[in-house]
Order: sequence, then C-alpha cells, then structure tokens
Amino acid sequence: MSNVVSMSAGGSGFERIETASRDEIAALQLDRMKWSLRHAYDNSEFYRKRFDERGVHPDDLKSLADLAKFPFTTKADLRDTYPFGMFAVPREKIARLHGSSGTTGKPIVVGYTKRDLDTWADLVARSIYASGGRPGDLLHVAYGYGLFTGGLGAHYGAERLGCTVVPISGGMTERQVTLLQDFGPRVIMVTPSYMLAILDEFRRQGIDPRESSLKIGIFGAEPWTNAMRAEIEMAFDMDAVDIYGLSEVMGPGVANECVESKDGLHIWEDHFYPEIIDPQTGEVLPDGEMGELVFTTLTKEGLPIVRYRTRDLTRLLPGTARSMRRMEKVTGRSDDMIILRGVNVFPTQIEEQILTCAGLAPHFQIELTRTGRMDEMCVHVECTGEAAAPAARAAAAKALSHRIKSVIGVSSRIEIHDPNGIVRSEGKAKRVVDNRPKE
Ligand code: DLL
Repeated sequence: MSNVVSMSAGGSGFERIETASRDEIAALQLDRMKWSLRHAYDNSEFYRKRFDERGVHPDDLKSLADLAKFPFTTKADLRDTYPFGMFAVPREKIARLHGSSGTTGKPIVVGYTKRDLDTWADLVARSIYASGGRPGDLLHVAYGYGLFTGGLGAHYGAERLGCTVVPISGGMTERQVTLLQDFGPRVIMVTPSYMLAILDEFRRQGIDPRESSLKIGIFGAEPWTNAMRAEIEMAFDMDAVDIYGLSEVMGPGVANECVESKDGLHIWEDHFYPEIIDPQTGEVLPDGEMGELVFTTLTKEGLPIVRYRTRDLTRLLPGTARSMRRMEKVTGRSDDMIILRGVNVFPTQIEEQILTCAGLAPHFQIELTRTGRMDEMCVHVECTGEAAAPAARAAAAKALSHRIKSVIGVSSRIEIHDPNGIVRSEGKAKRVVDNRPKE
C-alpha cells in the first residue's frame, strides 16, 4: 500500500505507476479494491448495513466489473450521517477534517488519517509535476484555505514536490498582484474564475500580465472550457492546466491534465476507481460514453467511499501522456443543468459562446426567471472597455443571442453590463441565479 515517491522513476511521470501497463494498473486496482471494500464493511457501520441490505459482501468482488453489484453512495448519505457517521476509523485516528458547505442545507464533513494526508500530498505533487511544476519552483496558492480542500490540499502537495509555497489563500486581489510581482512565482494554483479577477487587477494597475513571472496555472474546483483556457493562456503567456477533485473523494488531485498534451485529465487510477453511469438508471456505461462520474476510493482509511455519485458529467477516455485513463473536461454538474423548454443547457456552453463574441469579457451569470408557465434565461455579461459604446454593446448582444440560439438551440435575453459590472468570484463562481418562483 505504500506510495513511495520516486523522482527518478521512469516514463515522463512523477511516479513509475503513471506509465505502467494497463495490466499492472488493473491488478493493483483489484487488490486495492478488495482491501477497500473489506475495510469499509468491517469498520463502517454505514457500509456494513448498506452492503447487507443489498445482499453483497466484499468477498463477492472477484473482478473489477463486480463493483457494479455494490450500492452507490450519495451526498445525502454524508449529510444523514453528519458529522462523523461514515468514518471507518475511531475519531482519534483522524488527523484532519475538511468539509463543504454545499449550496443547500447542512455541510458535509470528511476526515483523513495521517496516511490519507500523505497520499493526498503525493497525488497533488504528482498533479503539479504533470502540470509542468518542478521542485524548487515558487508556487502561489490562491485557493481558499480552511475547511475547503483547495488551499491546504494544494499547499501540502506543493511542499511535497519541493516547491517554495506562498499560502496567500483567496481574496484581497490587489495584494495578490503585488505579491505576484514581488515574489515572482512560476506556478499559480487558483480557480479559473478568480484568475480572471487577478487578470483584471493586473490591467487596472497598468501591468502587462504577459510580463509576469507566471508560466503555469493549475486551475480547477469549477467547470471551465477550452475557450477559457485559450483566453487565460493568451492573456498571461502561460500554460493553463486542469485539476479536478472533490472533498468526498479526497480534494484536489483526483485527476489532472498533463501539460504536454492538455487533452483531458488523467485520473490517478491507482487510488480512485472511476465509472461512468447513466444518471437515470444507474447502469454502468462503456468508456467513451457521456454520463455521471462515480468514484470508489482504493486506499483511503478515514473515509472510504464506495461508488460515490459525483453528479459531474463527463466521459472516460484512454490514456495518452500517462497510461491512466482520462476524463474529458467536465461539462457541468447535473445540479447546474438548466432545462429550458426541453433543451439541456450548461453554463460551460454559454461560456464557450461568450468567448467567441468580440467585445465581450468572460465574466457572466445566468439568471432564470418564469413568466406564466415559461422559463426564461437571461445572460448577464460584461462588455470589454473597448466595446463600451452603445452601438458596440448592441452588436455584441445580438451576436451572442444569435450564437446561443444557433449553437445551443435556445432563445435567451442578453443583458450587457459595464466593465466590472458582474460580481467577481474569489473562489468558485456562481454561474446560475435561479429567480423562478419556488414550486
Ligand atoms: O473543489 C476540490 C478542488 C479544489 C478541486 C481545488 C480542484 C482544485 P469541492 O468543493 O468538494 O472540492 O467541490 C467538488 O467541484 O464535484 C465538481 O463539480 C467541481 N470541480 C472540481 N474540480 C473541477 C474541475 C473541490 N477541474 C466539485 N472542472 C466537483 C470542473 C470541477 N468541475
């Protein structure tokens, strides 16, 4: 079970296993999955009850495909057992707690043993390495520190890799820019939406962002598109790489893109087993098909998770730069999917269209309203400073509305705001504001 970091390991990865054969990876996964199901069953009352109700036992797992016999875990399960009800070790063995407030109701709490924290640091180090970061790099962490896993997760991974870490956390954007200028980091870890706020601040201070020391951005915690990647890479003259994760499974570093390919995120399959399911039926779908991402942890002690339904929509693809499978950039969460007169719309699709229209800045929010029985969508978006005149705004609004109608297939109202007119995020951006009357 040890996860020894070996800088001199072969292939182009941080650890040898990243480029191991599929057979070797599958054999390791099966061994670890048996351990994980057994650990969950023996040590978590919640899982013992769940498995018994379903009539399955850890011994029923003979192959990886047998996992489909086991029940799913959902966010509701974590809420119902709040705070520590799903832990599989005594509370005293938990070295750290994290949590997420979620958008509604009670928070969820997750717990890590010392070994879990060690694995997490290794996997974030692996992720930073895949992104192009190297020991000795100065690395600016602008993910929030606290119960959110972003700040501390990035921090310990960067330390593990051997970087000089600047633990600034989110917010105080003016100071972010000052420290970026004074310290000269090569790597930044931050949400893509907050990176845009930092970009604005560079420009406000009259500093050319392309002249900054930043060469690599490791962006995640929220959906963002390849169009946004191009925008940020151009603005900063940097490589922008995607990092994915969730508290329930670990935090950042469950999957990460490789800077040399930027073709989706390699899932660190030696620790997390992915499945894609049909969200309606729960049936496992073959690789390549779009559906809901489900994870089973293979090595976690504190909070083993069996078949966790992430609600994130994506598909699994074969490995490229690493032998571990990739997940396509997340399209969105099923919770964020807007159904407008029968058409499914994700905020990422709106983002893509905004970035094709001249005169619009990539700051937006989608407002849903209802008139009578009809749901309506209004896209609030900023114009750029150069396109602030009334005629330019009207042209941009017309172009965006046309593109949304022709590419996505829905009618929308467009409201163009002044530069800085849309509220900035300091962490995860809130893309959808639902002002429809409650049923
Ligand atoms: O957002 C962990 C994280 C921190 C990941 C920093 C990357 C960087 P939670 O707050 O529990 O954890 O939120 C998890 O955020 O289920 C996705 O819906 C979304 N998410 C995270 N990374 C990405 C990404 C952290 N790269 C939820 N692309 C997940 C799209 C992402 N969505």
